[in-house]
Amino acid sequence: MQESGKVTYVSLETDESFHGDYEAALIEIEQEFGKRHPMYIGGREVTAPREFEARSPIDPGILLGIFPEGGEDHAREGIAAANEAFLDWSRRDWRERIAVVRKTAGAMEDRLFLLAALLTYEAGKTRYEALAEVGEAVDMLRYYCRVYEQNNGYVFPMRSPAPGEECRSVMRPYGAWVVISPFNFPVALAAGMITGALLTGNTVVFKPTSKTPLSGMNLYRLFVEGGVPPGAINLVTGPGGPFGEAVVAHPDVAGIAFTGSKAVGTWLQRQIATVQPYHKPVVAELGSKNPTIVTASADIAKAVEGVARAAFGFAGQKCSATSRVYVHSSVAERFLQALRDRADRMEIGDPRRREVAFGPLIDDDARLTFQKAVEEALRDGGRLVAGGEVLEGGLYGRGVYVRPTVIADLAHGHRLFTEELFVPILTVGTFETLEEALALANATDYGLTAGIFAQDPAEIGYFFDRIRFGVVYANRRGGATTGAWPGAQPFGGWKASGSTGRGVGGPHYLLSFVREQAQTRVT
Ligand code: ALA
Repeated sequence: MQESGKVTYVSLETDESFHGDYEAALIEIEQEFGKRHPMYIGGREVTAPREFEARSPIDPGILLGIFPEGGEDHAREGIAAANEAFLDWSRRDWRERIAVVRKTAGAMEDRLFLLAALLTYEAGKTRYEALAEVGEAVDMLRYYCRVYEQNNGYVFPMRSPAPGEECRSVMRPYGAWVVISPFNFPVALAAGMITGALLTGNTVVFKPTSKTPLSGMNLYRLFVEGGVPPGAINLVTGPGGPFGEAVVAHPDVAGIAFTGSKAVGTWLQRQIATVQPYHKPVVAELGSKNPTIVTASADIAKAVEGVARAAFGFAGQKCSATSRVYVHSSVAERFLQALRDRADRMEIGDPRRREVAFGPLIDDDARLTFQKAVEEALRDGGRLVAGGEVLEGGLYGRGVYVRPTVIADLAHGHRLFTEELFVPILTVGTFETLEEALALANATDYGLTAGIFAQDPAEIGYFFDRIRFGVVYANRRGGATTGAWPGAQPFGGWKASGSTGRGVGGPHYLLSFVREQAQTRVT
């Protein structure tokens, strides 16, 4: 049985053969564009009086599709359909659900290049980022199947002291879950949440973000092709506000899995806690402000490469992106010069082109965030080490293209050191002692990913013991804080960055979707 898919970040760096298939898929996928799509509730096609258009961030002139603007009624109908399907799906043998998810993973892998080409069009990912994301999704599904299998479907025989009592502990699903996914990993993170719920016997109402609905639609179809029955997965498209209002108040919602902003995630948690009559789980993977520390002992070339990839991969729009660096003052200028050279060398532009490493921002709101932050930094005494500009005209088409940006010399408490911006701006500060660097890195409510570059093992040990983040890396050239892979790095935020303490793609993730039932039969 194959457990690992065709593509990983590493294989993409060494294997040249995928370019032709990906480039053919870029052409083939265009046939999918511009169509009108329905929602799917209980297996039925459902439309809505209003619609919205999905357009490509590469060039908003490219219409990707037209989707229904689902409202509160559709959210409620979705939950009703998911509840109706729950008993049948949850009563199936757990091995049967594994077979369905494995078949879905296989279908996803068969469409690896088409899905990656779609991610390029819909999210603006380069081929490396897009293929890695689909590869990650395939591996994630297979990894969860393996975990579920290794745990015998979470059925454990128990021993009773009372004669004649046969006991077992069974981790049981809750019911109808709502899954709300983000634009930055529209396939991998959405597929992970959906699988967490479905594999363990829950049913799902899936609402992809309105920024990437076509990837969401494709994902829905893959699960149906894998064998998930009608109603066990439902697809609602449209704005988040009315959908969110309806689901948090619905008596039959069993849980919510959400990946997105801290503001929305904490709103969902608060609403569920106050509106619902009792505790219901919210599996929230939220934002962060991820630090990387570069000590005086660091290999500076490695640190520059790892930081550049983590800060500017997918144009800084990963929840795992490094957005602040603390560098020892004795090596700070060397590090900054080399980082500036690396950032300036990045090929910016249309991500369909092979040589492009840095594509467009997702939309105009991101451009405003970028411009405002750069202006603020300069006003407050920041030094622009690299980038800072929005690129317009000619080569850059009609999307939002900016330069990878590095800012130094801001005060440590400045907003650019504390607030998640989700744009390619890296703020760099200096430190004198590692104790100070750890204090600065930890001085945040966030806690998703953190990195260190140091050649002294004692410094790495000091960092691992004291850093209060869920995913931590030392000396990672391929991405100082990015690129967690299922089965290798469970990806879960601490503090305000996550709600469960169990990482995505890790051995404990599925436990967030089940609760224990102690079953005793007297014979
Ligand atoms: N696996 C993705 C990363 O770590 C989310 O960047």
